[in-house]
Amino acid sequence: MNLLVIGSGGREHALVWKLAASPRVKKLYCAPGNAGIARQAECADIAAADISKLLTFAKEKQIDLTIVGPEAPLAAGLVDAFKKEHLNIFGPTKEAAKLEASKIYTKEFCGRYQIPQAGYKTFTNPKEAKAYVETHDYPLVVKADGLAQGKGVAICQKKEEALAAIQKYDKIVIEDFLKGEEASFIAVVDGNHILPLASSKDHKRLLDGERGPNTGGMGAFSPSPLINREMYEKIMETIMIPAVRAMVTEGFPFVGFLYAGLMIAKGEPRLLEFNVRLGDPEAQAILPRLRTDLVEIFQKALDGRLNEVELSWETDAACCVVMASQGYPGTYEKGLPIQGLNEAESLPDTIVFHAGTRLQGERVVTEGGRVLGVSALGKNVAEASQKAYTAAEKISWKGSFYRKDIGRGVR
Ligand code: AMP
Ligand code: GLY
Repeated sequence: MNLLVIGSGGREHALVWKLAASPRVKKLYCAPGNAGIARQAECADIAAADISKLLTFAKEKQIDLTIVGPEAPLAAGLVDAFKKEHLNIFGPTKEAAKLEASKIYTKEFCGRYQIPQAGYKTFTNPKEAKAYVETHDYPLVVKADGLAQGKGVAICQKKEEALAAIQKYDKIVIEDFLKGEEASFIAVVDGNHILPLASSKDHKRLLDGERGPNTGGMGAFSPSPLINREMYEKIMETIMIPAVRAMVTEGFPFVGFLYAGLMIAKGEPRLLEFNVRLGDPEAQAILPRLRTDLVEIFQKALDGRLNEVELSWETDAACCVVMASQGYPGTYEKGLPIQGLNEAESLPDTIVFHAGTRLQGERVVTEGGRVLGVSALGKNVAEASQKAYTAAEKISWKGSFYRKDIGRGVR
């Protein structure tokens, strides 16, 4: 088969890396890809947002299956455009992608189907929002309605912060603050059947000890010790199954990766958000543990026969440490040469996934805020973490940094 992966981040590198190992793949393409992806796939210089060019490319290269990594092209209707031309593509339609693209839609959706979530109010009028935060208890959470790459959420400790956050957006959700521990629960969904992947945990804050601003994710590990058998059943019964059924009822059956970002407290999971794609960097901790052929999973999903797939996992845990550019999640310099990649990659049980990288001649240089995801396998998360850090220490560029506490001591 000829496959096309759309995107250019660490998540897409993990997808490409795993797909490249499938005996079913004849030719693997990625648009636009990055320097690491270029080792396993032929990269096409087409932006993930350029739907018409992607369509032309898929036809020209006789692509049998396209897999979409990021949320923005899904929300823009990439899947709808491919389906209209009878091209096989794995991902949700534009309507189904609203589960991530509109927080207001999703809060109301969860309300209609009794999916546990934080209490909330939505506002399209800043005056009313301001009046609301005058009297509300703190902390509270202000969220922009649209896609914001993890940066549209403000946890406000006092009124002044809430007022400042409201200023920035037209449409907002104001949520009660939930205490607890977070986990990511991601499943492959074929419209009706739900095939959960291994659990994981992402660290969204920039700094050690969950301090500093939110980012796209600074590291992840899999599995999450929070999600034992009982918790798994609860998440399926109270969140995943109701959501997938409800999407059928609403007329927008969900096909793709459905990601529930959870807050777990006192043994009860509550939904913080749905994403309609694999997590990044969760994918870089989950996919190295997957033994099952990913192509088979996608094919069964598109046939509506995911119930026939039983996933097989490495017993080893995995940990991914994100290496970022100085200034991220704000502005940062690009084009800086990266040292030590070969040395890191030659370590046992280690994979260096590329995110914001580019080839400049023979050299690999930085091209984004999150530059690399250094993943390692180990007999538990703590050991995987140690190995990932041993590898990360070998790699550097001017201003490179990473959190030092991802997966540390987790068993
Ligand atoms: P979201 O994009 O909605 O997942 O929010 C990003 C991050 O903000 C989450 O991963 C949490 O760390 C935090 N967060 C969001 N909503 C809440 C909430 N209601 N209570 C506490 N923390 C939250
Ligand atoms: N790592 C969080 C996300 O992918 O949204």
